[in-house]
Amino acid sequence: MILTDRIMAKPVLKWAGGKTQLLKVLLPNIPLSYGKYIEPFLGGGALFFALTPNNAVISDSNPELVNLYKVIASNVEDLIKELKLYNNSADFFYEQRNFDWKSLQPIKAAARTIFLNKTCFNGIYRINKQGFFNVPYGQYKKPKICDEKNLLNVSKVLHGKTIICGDYKSVLNQYAKPGDFIFLDPPYVPISKSSDFKRYTQQPFSMNDHIELASEVKRLHEIGCHVILTNSDHPHVHSLYDKFDLRVCNTRRSVNSKISQRQGKDIVVCIPPGKKYLSPLSASSSYSNVMMFVRSNAFNDSLVVV
Ligand SMILES: C[S@@+](CC[C@H](N)C(=O)[O-])C[C@H]1O[C@@H](n2cnc3c(N)ncnc32)[C@H](O)[C@@H]1O
Repeated sequence: MILTDRIMAKPVLKWAGGKTQLLKVLLPNIPLSYGKYIEPFLGGGALFFALTPNNAVISDSNPELVNLYKVIASNVEDLIKELKLYNNSADFFYEQRNFDWKSLQPIKAAARTIFLNKTCFNGIYRINKQGFFNVPYGQYKKPKICDEKNLLNVSKVLHGKTIICGDYKSVLNQYAKPGDFIFLDPPYVPISKSSDFKRYTQQPFSMNDHIELASEVKRLHEIGCHVILTNSDHPHVHSLYDKFDLRVCNTRRSVNSKISQRQGKDIVVCIPPGKKYLSPLSASSSYSNVMMFVRSNAFNDSLVVV
C-alpha cells in the first residue's frame, strides 16, 4: 500500500527538545492502528507532523505557541502577508521582542512568534520567570522568516484538529479513551545542574510533576491506551518506568550552546494497552516495527507501508 496523498509538513518552529532527531526510533514503534492521536506536550510537534494523523487532539500549556497553531489553522493567508513585511535586522528584532505578545492581535502575535524563532540566537524559544522571551538576536544572514509553502501545508494538516491550550492532565482526562495513541514528550528531567536551561512556560516541570505523569501513564495503560513517552536518561526516569519496555537512544541536541553537551541520551518508553485490551492480533503485532518499514526519506516523501 502506498500512501501518496499525505500532506508533507514540517514543524514551523525550532523547539528545545524537538523530536525530529528521534523520529527514526519513534516511527517504527507507532501502533499499527489506533483511535485518536493525542499529543499534550506538543511543542514543535515533530512526531505529529511526521504522522499527520486525521483524528487528533494536540495541546500545550504555552498559550503563545497555541495561539500560533490556531492562527495557522484558521488564518494562514493573513499570517503569511504579515510575515512578508518583516525584515531581519537587530532593531526590528528588539522592537518585536519588546512587545508583550498578549497585547497584540492574534495574527501579529503569531507572526512575531515565528519571526523571533527564525532570527534569534540558536533559534530557540525560551522565556524568563516573568514570561518574556529573552533570547538575543542571532545575526543570521538569510533566515527563512516566511516559509510560505510549509505554512500552507501545516495549515492543511491542522485543519479540523482539536487544538487546546492547557495542562496535559486535564486534556488527557477529557479526551483519552481506550484504543487511543498518546505521545508524551514532557520537559525532561535535567541530567545535571549544568544541563541546558529550557523554560517553555512560566511554570517549570518539577520532579513531582514527573511522578504525577508516571501515575497518569499507568492510568492510560490501564484504561487501554497505547502510550509512547520520552525523557532523559536519568535514574529517576528509569525507576518511574522500569515496569515497561524502556530503551536508551543516542541523540544530538542542536540547541545546546556548549558543543561538548550536544550529544545526549534519550529514554523511549513504549507502553501497550493493559492486557485485557489487547486483541490476539495486537498482542503479537501491536506495534508497527513488526510490519512497517518507513523509507529513510519518509518525511519528505510518501510513506511506504508493506
Ligand atoms: C520537550 S517539549 C515538546 C517537544 C515536542 N515533542 C517537539 O517535537 O517539538 C515539552 C513541551 O511541554 C510543554 N509543557 C510544559 N509543561 C506542561 C504542562 N504541564 N502541560 C502541558 N504542556 C506542558 C512545553 O510548553 C513544551 O512545549
